[in-house]
Amino acid sequence: MRAVITGATKGIGRAIVETFAKAGYDLAICARTQADLDTLQTELKTTYPNINLIMEAVDMSKKEAVKGFAATIVSQWKQVDILINNAGVFKPGAVSEEEEGTLEFQIETNLYSAYYMTRGLLPAMLPHESGHIFNMCSIASFMAYPNGGSYSVSKFAMLGFSKALREEMKTKGIKVTSIMPGATWSASWDGAPFPEDRLMKAEDIAHSVLSVAQMNKGAVVEEMVIRPQLGDL
Ligand SMILES: NC(=O)c1ccc[n+]([C@@H]2O[C@H](COP(=O)([O-])OP(=O)(O)OC[C@H]3O[C@@H](n4cnc5c(N)ncnc54)[C@H](OP(=O)(O)O)[C@@H]3O)[C@@H](O)[C@H]2O)c1
Repeated sequence: MRAVITGATKGIGRAIVETFAKAGYDLAICARTQADLDTLQTELKTTYPNINLIMEAVDMSKKEAVKGFAATIVSQWKQVDILINNAGVFKPGAVSEEEEGTLEFQIETNLYSAYYMTRGLLPAMLPHESGHIFNMCSIASFMAYPNGGSYSVSKFAMLGFSKALREEMKTKGIKVTSIMPGATWSASWDGAPFPEDRLMKAEDIAHSVLSVAQMNKGAVVEEMVIRPQLGDL
């Protein structure tokens, strides 16, 4: 089985990489920072020596780079079982105050990345009438909150993309799942004034994704809302 995971070196993406590698998947992964990818590659090859790994430094906010990465994967694998559109950035702000360009940056990174990656990899799913696409949305995809600003706009859009895709893929044998986590501990929370255990652990999101991916052919989880036990922050 082959899984593609974007934004793979830290946080939730990193936890998904570890969970899927442990479950025996071959992986195609990316992030922007080559040094982090090199470290991750060494760790994966040490723990899972038989893993088939495609790894590339890709800025997922750049359309041509995304299309190039997808083309590399399709040329090597021909068939992709799982795509996890995880790469994303969070820039806190307010629509009325944030710097101009904040919306464009987050739409390009959080939405267009998934749109072009999905279009690039569907040719490795559609002919086989199988595959599962996970789109990393957020609680911010269905509720606004202070300091959400353009991030929330981009995540509402991501859920819209995911719902449209689900409808389109229903009769084509391809599953689509929108993941909506609440606060999950990752580097982006460094310095936040909360104890780490107030937030969810990235591995809990990763295990949920794997368990949904392992369901029988006839069932799909369309939306997963996962919150800290004590609720939103
Ligand atoms: N953590 C939360 O509380 C939370 C809650 C709900 C949803 N989410 C969503 O979950 C996803 C992961 O969040 P996280 O908190 O785990 O993030 P994180 O810890 O900041 O890690 C982000 C990962 O994505 C990569 N990345 C960032 N921008 C990229 C780009 N333009 N192209 C390619 N890779 C890129 C990063 O590596 P490089 O910097 O090297 O590129 C890193 O590997 C995001 O979509 C986020 O919106 C997070």
